[in-house]
Amino acid sequence: VTPKIMLSNPVSLVSNEMNTLAKNIMALIGSGHPTLNRVTSYYFEAEGKKVRPLLVLLLSRALAAIPLNQRDHVKVDSEDVPEDPVYSKPPHMLLFEQPVRNFSPLHVLHGIKPLNPLTKGPEPLPQATFDQERGILPKQRRLAEIVEMIHTASLLHDDVIDHSDTRRGRPSGNIAFTNKMAVLGGDFLLGRATVSISRLRNPEVVELMSNSIANLVEGEFMQLKNTAVDGDPTTIQFGKKELPPLSGKLDNKVHEYHVPVKYEANITHDQMIETAFEYYLHKSYLKTAALISKSSRAAAILSGARENVIDQCYEFGKNLGICFQLVDDMLDFTVAGKDLGKPAGADLKLGIATAPVLYAWKEDPSLGPLIRRNFSQPGDVERAAGAVAKYDSVSKTRSLAQDYRDKALSNLRAALPESDARSALEFLTNSILTRRK
Ligand code: FPP
Ligand code: MG
Ligand code: MG
Repeated sequence: VTPKIMLSNPVSLVSNEMNTLAKNIMALIGSGHPTLNRVTSYYFEAEGKKVRPLLVLLLSRALAAIPLNQRDHVKVDSEDVPEDPVYSKPPHMLLFEQPVRNFSPLHVLHGIKPLNPLTKGPEPLPQATFDQERGILPKQRRLAEIVEMIHTASLLHDDVIDHSDTRRGRPSGNIAFTNKMAVLGGDFLLGRATVSISRLRNPEVVELMSNSIANLVEGEFMQLKNTAVDGDPTTIQFGKKELPPLSGKLDNKVHEYHVPVKYEANITHDQMIETAFEYYLHKSYLKTAALISKSSRAAAILSGARENVIDQCYEFGKNLGICFQLVDDMLDFTVAGKDLGKPAGADLKLGIATAPVLYAWKEDPSLGPLIRRNFSQPGDVERAAGAVAKYDSVSKTRSLAQDYRDKALSNLRAALPESDARSALEFLTNSILTRRK
């Protein structure tokens, strides 16, 4: 019997790793520029949900419960993470004693002394150690850090794109630092995440995680250009533009998610709705689920798990990620901004039609023109919100999210033996539907 305390707090199983996550990330993102450091560390200072690293860590622990003789033991990657040469060599960058606001090269000329790089460099990279008892491998722990870095980079960019003013209950990066610095900060985080990915020294994992970054951008782009409802008569073959696998090992059918969405002129209303849902769900996969599913797959690969387990872990992440985004889109209609810690009711104002609106559109075809013009005319946002309420579209969205949750739960049970970590993952999967932020 799993103790209740564990069930009610899945974090407790990986609390060591979760507690050191932000500190370890800080060691990976140090630059020679104090202002850049402030921008890149900004979102890590505030308390985020950290769902993605939590999933990677719990999944890694649950995978460790698979007996070694049921894994491809030569593939169990218990090697330490190689040290990053950026930190192991004397830093060649200027390092300043005090954080400098609005830094310019003139500071150098006007008496702000660089530290002696040989006596006081950045902190050495903490060496990952294999926690025998917890079974989390060093590279899996690093993977959790990488996932949070990629996610945070995307948030810095997202808040610029969405003109957001708050995140995690305080001014968003674009407001605190300007758009330019927020964009560059995100780019820097991505660059460093890429260094860390390559240092995992696993080509399959490198390909997965690199694709997850490309997926984030493509998902965001799909949202920007809502082709499926724009009346643009083109056929989009999603997922076909990714690079072919480098080795025969990767099965595109499994690690990619192909949804050919076809828009044709003169289709029926029901076909239009179906197309719009396909587009929306594929966008949600790319924008949210791809990072979760690909890091879940990567965690399984590093554990030396067999192919069917790796596939189930991938499916778990995909279903959970789509469930997560459906709930996110639902909360945008139901929860106040002060509770979310970020603007509420934002999607309609940004012109984005999410699941609740698509369900309302199904019942009321006259919403089509509003959706196509991105709710840009006076009264559009209010009319769409009214239709969402009238047709009970939030409940319909919740029920769709429940379907994905159920699939994620069966993936877990198919992939993993019973363990406290698997129970914690089940608990976490269930709690996605009851979250309020
Ligand atoms: C949050 O969505 C945003 C994402 C899940 C992904 C955003 C991706 C990009 C901006 C592409 C650039 C990517 C990288 C890796 C630099 P949301 O706006 O619906 O959620 P919110 O309510 O939290 O703002
Ligand atoms: Mg946003
Ligand atoms: Mg956004």
